[in-house]
Amino acid sequence: MPIVIKADGLALGKGVIIAENYSQASEAAKNMLEGGAFGGAGSTIVIEEYMTGPEMSMLCFTDGKTVVPMVTAQDHKRALDNDMGLNTGGMGAFSPSMQYDSSNDKWLMDNVLLPTVRAMEKEGRPFKGVLYFGLMLTKNGIKVLEYNARFGDPETQVVLPLLETDLVDIMRAISEQKLAELPVVWKNGCAACVVMASGGYPKKYETGLAISGLDDGGQVAGCTVYHAGTKLAEDGQQLLTAGGRVLGVTATAENLPAALEKAYAGVAKIQWENVHYRHDIGQRALQALQ
Ligand code: GLY
Repeated sequence: MPIVIKADGLALGKGVIIAENYSQASEAAKNMLEGGAFGGAGSTIVIEEYMTGPEMSMLCFTDGKTVVPMVTAQDHKRALDNDMGLNTGGMGAFSPSMQYDSSNDKWLMDNVLLPTVRAMEKEGRPFKGVLYFGLMLTKNGIKVLEYNARFGDPETQVVLPLLETDLVDIMRAISEQKLAELPVVWKNGCAACVVMASGGYPKKYETGLAISGLDDGGQVAGCTVYHAGTKLAEDGQQLLTAGGRVLGVTATAENLPAALEKAYAGVAKIQWENVHYRHDIGQRALQALQ
């Protein structure tokens, strides 16, 4: 104890109970299996080891034989500063993760990355593309929390700006199963992304609000602004909010504090009614380093 009881189906991120003792665990399992908590999603449950530690995303390119990890990244899932509030699709990210020690690279390749790709092939599901490993850095070593078969969001907004090699060349090498022959090169430095969201997200929020501060190309100086939930008004000129997560304001620099400063300087220029963003992207990791 503690131990984790999970609804095996999709439960909007709510189907996870951390049980502190046997009776809580038993009650959670009964509620899911017999009490219909989480509906059909809870008709099968997963009982898992409880883990704690910083989370990190390792996105990898694979052609089904070779696995090439991208630079690491860390996402911020909670809506509010200090990791408070509801889980969201991601309120910001930075790359690389400074809490990951690259002396683990070989262990991860041999024990996690390659075995995953080989197991998929063995099951008759060879995989080519981007595999996303959600990892936790625990006291007992690195553990896999989840897999996704796609780029992560907002991790991609901080990983791809650090890619030196042309992404199209990588995609071609993946499709031709020649990834082993292509050197994939990364830039030095760091990237930070601050997500600007609609007030109220991830619950109810308003859309159609006028966004100010962006130039004609929808950008601000010193940053790359990724548009996630925007649209043009009928006049074809005014940019409006059109989703929960509206913009991802990303900057690169020689180190994380400098990348964050540039990203937040970009954020400060952009405005709409009730805009919401976190003020502490990267801070927990920087504090952990001190
Ligand atoms: N950032 C988490 C995800 O893309 O699933």
